[in-house]
Amino acid sequence: MAMMMMNLKRAATSAIRAFPAAPSSTGALARHLHGSVGESKKIVGVFYKANEYAEKNPNFLGCAENALGIRSWLESQGHQYIVTDDKDGPNSELEKHIPDLHVLISTPFHPAYVTAERIKKAKNLQLLLTAGIGSDHIDLPAAAAAGLTVAEVTGSNVVSVAEDELMRILILMRNFLPGYHQVINGEWDVAGIAYRAYDLEAKTIGTVGCGRIGKLLLQRLKPFGCNLLYHDRLKMEPDLEKQIGAKFEEDLDAMLPKCDVVVINTPLTEKTKCVLAVRIELCKFQFFQYRVDLGMFDKDRISKMKKGVLIVNNARGAIMDTQAVVDGCSSGQIGGYSGDVWYPQPAPKDHPWRYMPNQAMTPHISGTTIDAQLRYAAGVKDMLDRYFKGEDFPAQNYIVKEGQLASQYK
Ligand SMILES: NC(=O)c1ccc[n+]([C@@H]2O[C@H](COP(=O)([O-])OP(=O)(O)OC[C@H]3O[C@@H](n4cnc5c(N)ncnc54)[C@H](O)[C@@H]3O)[C@@H](O)[C@H]2O)c1
Repeated sequence: MAMMMMNLKRAATSAIRAFPAAPSSTGALARHLHGSVGESKKIVGVFYKANEYAEKNPNFLGCAENALGIRSWLESQGHQYIVTDDKDGPNSELEKHIPDLHVLISTPFHPAYVTAERIKKAKNLQLLLTAGIGSDHIDLPAAAAAGLTVAEVTGSNVVSVAEDELMRILILMRNFLPGYHQVINGEWDVAGIAYRAYDLEAKTIGTVGCGRIGKLLLQRLKPFGCNLLYHDRLKMEPDLEKQIGAKFEEDLDAMLPKCDVVVINTPLTEKTKCVLAVRIELCKFQFFQYRVDLGMFDKDRISKMKKGVLIVNNARGAIMDTQAVVDGCSSGQIGGYSGDVWYPQPAPKDHPWRYMPNQAMTPHISGTTIDAQLRYAAGVKDMLDRYFKGEDFPAQNYIVKEGQLASQYK
């Protein structure tokens, strides 16, 4: 049965991948990014609300109230800047502005889901900016087909995330949270913690995806004396690999069983989320088809990992099959799961990851430290400035440009 599901999934995935990419000559390039230099633009920002925390720190720029600190700069140039946290559903504040906005700024911490339907309605839209890293909240093929530009502030919060991942590895390895809860609950039971608390030294840590965050994590892990592995589409240059001290594993399924800790550091793409297309034939001429996103890490893959493996995922929630993680944590196949990314976000109150055992989950916070906010606010301002002047962005920031997706999203 498992084998059948796996084959079905593979077939469905390759069928979906076999669909031709949207042509870049028809709809694409229709909305020239810099075709209207000097005009007043309507810019909409979608950020998380801070309420009483908004005024507690002058550098708290990432919230709706402080709106990246660019309001007076934008308005002094004659642009309209609307900011909201109300992003979901047909009656949301965002939806009202979709038909006439030119630029939409959003952040992965409180993502404005930009569906193909919204793109179709947004007749004036030219530019989608992500204040942070990871633009999977946008239907990227639809954006490409519509000739939109999608860009993010590449590198802006990679140190913030790598540091957070290191913290989560230690929290899981030392079985920290049960001890913390004992203190809160007035208990004292050393054995209840110690029976499965370990040193990090000499453990095998594998990162799935070894780009900016993955490399920074490995560099931070090196002094702990771990055995470091990485799986990526690309192998590092030998000098860098030697300096970082990690071994390349071309085959993900060969790496996973060796790891005591697996850290996910890939973007969410059609390849890292595993899509199952289900087609139900109603009669000879009618069928009903739908897609089920199962995640790159499904039940089958999790079952091949070391029993008791610790998993850290600050990349994207949908890379994991939600129920397979719950089942793994419940059975002990996963010894601990920690991360800050969920699908959807904000996570609903009944999201099963809130209630599974052996988890150390938080809301989406790792990439929105004050230091990160200052960097991604500056990066967004820089791209807007270039957009108003008709100049290109730094090349590494583009996710969709002139009808083409960045290589890892293809
Ligand atoms: N939780 C947060 O606050 C937060 C903040 C920043 C980034 N992120 C997430 O982390 C991701 C990675 O960020 P980054 O700055 O390191 O990006 P990056 O582009 O520098 O690195 C991504 C790496 O993943 C590899 N990769 C892509 N698809 C792959 C596949 N199918 N198989 C194997 N490897 C693959 C790429 O080759 C690349 O080396 C982002 O896309 C985002 O989803 C989360």
